Amino acid sequence: MKIIDLRSDTVTLPTEQMRKAMYHAELGDDVYGEDPSTQRLEKMAAEQMGKEAALLVPSGTMGNLICMLTYCARGEEVILGDASHMFINEAGGMAALGGIQPHIIPNQPDGTLRLKDIRAAIRGDNIHFPRTRLICLENTHNRCNGAALTSRYIESVAALAQRHDLLLHLDGARIFNAAVALGVDVKELTHSVDSLIFCLSKGLSSPVGSIVCGSKEFITRALRTRKILGGGMRQTGVIAAPGTIALEQMVDRLAEDHINARCLAEGIAQIPGLSINLERVQTNIIYFDLVSDKITMDVFIKQLEKKGIKLLATGSSRFRLVTHYGISSEDITTTLTCLGEIMRQS
Ligand SMILES: Cc1ncc(COP(=O)(O)O)c(C=O)c1O
Repeated sequence: MKIIDLRSDTVTLPTEQMRKAMYHAELGDDVYGEDPSTQRLEKMAAEQMGKEAALLVPSGTMGNLICMLTYCARGEEVILGDASHMFINEAGGMAALGGIQPHIIPNQPDGTLRLKDIRAAIRGDNIHFPRTRLICLENTHNRCNGAALTSRYIESVAALAQRHDLLLHLDGARIFNAAVALGVDVKELTHSVDSLIFCLSKGLSSPVGSIVCGSKEFITRALRTRKILGGGMRQTGVIAAPGTIALEQMVDRLAEDHINARCLAEGIAQIPGLSINLERVQTNIIYFDLVSDKITMDVFIKQLEKKGIKLLATGSSRFRLVTHYGISSEDITTTLTCLGEIMRQS
């Protein structure tokens, strides 16, 4: 039985070409700055993002943490969304390792932070207050239905940050999904931020790695922070080589994942007992609710598993489905057929 794994785009496996590139990669000790494959990838990533420099890191989580630790001193504050990955899913790294205080404000359903909420969260100059240092955005926004933030919105936050002498960091784990969904060059979404991370190991199908991008001066400091965190990785060409292929070959095809997500969402909307807000479906992440009282979440999940379909429960009635390179349009049809059968029989 084929397993249709819709839990996340992190389950993607490297392509044949990526595996060959790993085998043949030109290698050196990257901690000495001598790994040619890593240098090639970092240069390509910086160019694509329109930034001066880039740094390969083991994961998106470490990339975000590196940026916060590089920018903020102990006791300083970061303004970010209450539904952000950095706040919810990164094990409190900023507080645990940096003594950095998260100042959360509500994420709107479209993934944005209201400008007036950001403004209100910026601390005044008073010895009683922590010092605000940084604002963070997430694009696409994982928990907000994979919403894509527009360049206009990001620029408005950047302008606000500048007016208050603050820095702007972007958790762009899925920034290419945003660019493809909005039909813009990715640089439009990154030019106004001071730093960003993006992941090679999600929709782009590379097995390991994320990239931090920013100014040369920032990346030099980030390199030291990466070392402190134990992220200096020696012959990194084995992960950089597939990363290069990810950037060259796997970006445009994200549009297919968005089409599959839309088909899946429209099918789910037709199934009695399941509820989905179609207006929120923009990229490769969809959320739906089980609204029938005839079947429990546990039974629903088990029945799907028996049919080879995996999905992620994210709330008392809520599920997340993510389309990716390992999911075909036939898999979408199969998933919809199975969902329909389970709901009809319950
Ligand atoms: C929005 C977002 N940011 C950051 C990360 C962290 O990436 P990693 O799993 O590589 O640490 C994820 C992972 O799912 C994510 O969805």
